[in-house]
Amino acid sequence: MRHLLTLFDLETVEIEAVLREAARLKADCLAGNREPLFPRFVQALLFEKPSLRTRVSFETAMVHLGGTTLYLGADVGWGKRETPADFSRVLSQYADVIVCRAKSHSTVEELAKYSTAPVINGLTDLSHPCQALADILTIQETFGDIKGRKLTFVGDGNNVSRSLALICAKLGMKFTLAAPASYELDEPWLNRIAEVCPGFEVEMTNDPVAAVKDAAAVYTDVWASMGQEAEEEKRRKDFAPFQVNFKLMESAPKDAIFLHCLPAKRGEEVTDEVMDSPQSAIVAQAGNRMHAQKGLLAWLLARRNEG
Ligand code: CP
Ligand code: NVA
Repeated sequence: MRHLLTLFDLETVEIEAVLREAARLKADCLAGNREPLFPRFVQALLFEKPSLRTRVSFETAMVHLGGTTLYLGADVGWGKRETPADFSRVLSQYADVIVCRAKSHSTVEELAKYSTAPVINGLTDLSHPCQALADILTIQETFGDIKGRKLTFVGDGNNVSRSLALICAKLGMKFTLAAPASYELDEPWLNRIAEVCPGFEVEMTNDPVAAVKDAAAVYTDVWASMGQEAEEEKRRKDFAPFQVNFKLMESAPKDAIFLHCLPAKRGEEVTDEVMDSPQSAIVAQAGNRMHAQKGLLAWLLARRNEG
């Protein structure tokens, strides 16, 4: 039985297997076949923060696979009515897989510690692994072979950019973060990546123009993540020179794609012009959340009786 809390939980060959399964199931789905690989399986979604993409893409993926979903909000009394250990042991008696979106990463760790069903991180303050899987699927669909290509993230060293840096390292892609000083990726995370991927080419810069020059994909995310609302005003000032606009995209290769995990704050981290440009792959990227997670569910559920 395996969990996906961060992409450190998957070896490179395992990420590649999940992506292959995702691509296979996507092709089947587009051909009109929704193979019910897991009939009557039950997926629990335990969400502490709002969501459109993650919630709906997991729900639809599970319907396609033949199972069903329980969306659990605050009313289940999570963390309030009983200990996390009791909660997790009981929930995993009913659910075959648990997807959790939590304010604090330690919450998903605690859930996984006691769960007898696989736990998938549907976003925490630390990481957003399912997003990174869908993003790589999108880059693969655009360019075919991704090895040696560069993903440039213009913005905050947050949950999304951390997960992207790690998946790039695992899959042999280069990763550059263009961020204002003090918003870069944290040392402990980079050190952990360096331990498992010694040859990783990562660059940190305060110059977005130089950063996008040889990028295959230019990526951004909101400047203030959920939970950072109090810092919004300061961040708006600090990140102002890091907006992804038409001028910045002119410095990127003509065939570079633009990616955003969404939801976007149009007019802040990215302009309408870029969001709606022919280079923008944001809609396919969001659609790929469902396909990538289907691949992940199939991979994890096939291993539910292991170890
Ligand atoms: N990208 C993403 O996770 O979107 P939601 O917050 O809508 O799930
Ligand atoms: N960094 C953003 C991603 C939302 C999908 C957040 O955590 O709010």
